[in-house]
Amino acid sequence: MSDTKAEATGVEAATLPSAPAKRSFGARVAAHYKKWWWAHLIAFVIVVLVVVLPVIYVGYPKIAQRDVNDSTLDITSMVISDPTPDSFQLNQTQVIGSDSSYHPQIYAFNAAVSLAGAAAPFTTVRVPGVKSEDGAEIEVVQKVDLSDVDAFGDYAKAVMLNEEVSLNIYGEPELRQGSLPKTKVTYNKTVTMKGLNQLKGFDVTEFHILLTTKNGRNMDGTVYIPNPSVMTIEMGNLTLDLSVAGKPMGQSFLDNLILKPGNNTIPMTSTVNQTAIISMLTSKSNPYKDGVVPFDITGNSSVYNGKTLPYFTEALSANNLTVHLNVTKALAEIGLTNL
Ligand SMILES: *[C@@H]1O[C@H](CO)[C@@H](O)[C@H](O)[C@H]1NC(C)=O
Ligand SMILES: *[C@@H]1O[C@H](CO)[C@@H](O)[C@H](O)[C@H]1NC(C)=O
Ligand SMILES: *[C@@H]1O[C@H](CO)[C@@H](O)[C@H](O)[C@H]1NC(C)=O
Ligand SMILES: *[C@@H]1O[C@H](CO)[C@@H](O)[C@H](O)[C@H]1NC(C)=O
Ligand SMILES: *[C@@H]1O[C@H](CO)[C@@H](O)[C@H](O)[C@H]1NC(C)=O
Ligand SMILES: *[C@@H]1O[C@H](CO)[C@@H](O)[C@H](O)[C@H]1NC(C)=O
Ligand SMILES: *[C@@H]1O[C@H](CO)[C@@H](O)[C@H](O)[C@H]1NC(C)=O
Ligand SMILES: *[C@@H]1O[C@H](CO)[C@@H](O)[C@H](O)[C@H]1NC(C)=O
Ligand SMILES: *[C@@H]1O[C@H](CO)[C@@H](O)[C@H](O)[C@H]1NC(C)=O
Repeated sequence: MSDTKAEATGVEAATLPSAPAKRSFGARVAAHYKKWWWAHLIAFVIVVLVVVLPVIYVGYPKIAQRDVNDSTLDITSMVISDPTPDSFQLNQTQVIGSDSSYHPQIYAFNAAVSLAGAAAPFTTVRVPGVKSEDGAEIEVVQKVDLSDVDAFGDYAKAVMLNEEVSLNIYGEPELRQGSLPKTKVTYNKTVTMKGLNQLKGFDVTEFHILLTTKNGRNMDGTVYIPNPSVMTIEMGNLTLDLSVAGKPMGQSFLDNLILKPGNNTIPMTSTVNQTAIISMLTSKSNPYKDGVVPFDITGNSSVYNGKTLPYFTEALSANNLTVHLNVTKALAEIGLTNL
């Protein structure tokens, strides 16, 4: 055993310098690499490029796009304030929903906002950068210029009339995952949110005849306006036309109206043609024997700081409201009975 070992080392020691053809495997590999290192380097680089480049430039953008496609967006708050005929202040909170294991940084981008299905966006908003994570909040605080006032009128009308409204948000943000390069994705999301649903539930909960007029108004009262949406809308001074069976009966005013999410209880004043109402109720053909009169209410105008807001005006006038008011009761309050 020990002889063989000694012999082997002896042979090795004796033959190495004089017989290169019989070098050890390790030495031959070393020699090979010494000679062909450049070929291996090129091969290695090619393999890396072939494997990594498609991952970075094809796979990664695709995964990024897929994750963007799969993510959701929820508008949890939307405040429209300080409106002018062609702009308003927008304070909006959006929440990203994503079950991806990647959390790329999404850079700020411009998003075109339109009523889903509409031909043109009504504005472009600057969406700030955000790290894409489930529940990440995006705050858009911006003075919004209405690039297309008619398109915004259509949106306002859709909000007024429908139970749900879909907004399309379109942009091409860049995003970056970890130390990978930036990649551009297409962000095309349709977000469905609750609308005002024709102000269903609108009611005049109280109204009184004023014996002395205030600013030309001879009635006051309270209206109840439910707002099932997450929108807070500053609508300015609203004028509403009142009519009974197609006959004009005056106007109601909601001053400095800010419609908030939930139940709104708001003071209302009116200028009502009392002569017309009393003569209607006292006529032989009076159809409202119990004194309860159905008033039809349609929007006349929305004015903010002296300027008419065409989009709110349009939205208001697209809606029809009817309230049943016990006029006999209001007249009795001021001592007029047995008409
Ligand atoms: C993302 O959605 C768009 C349609 O909105 C589709 O054309 C595209 O193929 C989707 N991309 C991926 C990677 O899923
Ligand atoms: C909107 O956000 C800005 C900045 O945070 C704030 O100054 C402003 O009061 C907000 N407006 C409304 C109506 O909440
Ligand atoms: C966004 O996607 C919708 C359908 O999901 C499509 O109709 C619309 O054309 C897309 N928008 C753009 C700007 O590509
Ligand atoms: C709003 O009023 C309705 C009844 O008119 C009531 O059922 C509801 O709970 C109220 N909502 C809030 C948030 O107060
Ligand atoms: C009030 O109604 C009466 C009777 O219909 C009408 O003659 C009168 O012009 C109206 N007054 C106003 C201010 O509209
Ligand atoms: C709006 O009210 C004004 C009076 O304030 C009236 O002249 C006008 O006809 C009304 N417009 C509509 C569409 O009812
Ligand atoms: C509403 O009208 C009142 C009285 O005319 C005025 O003082 C107020 O500034 C108006 N509000 C808005 C938002 O324009
Ligand atoms: C409101 O009434 C007008 C005229 O009666 C009608 O043309 C319109 O469709 C009604 N709007 C709604 C939302 O019911
Ligand atoms: C209207 O009010 C009068 C006086 O308060 C009352 O007697 C009457 O029952 C009321 N009518 C209805 C339908 O509520």
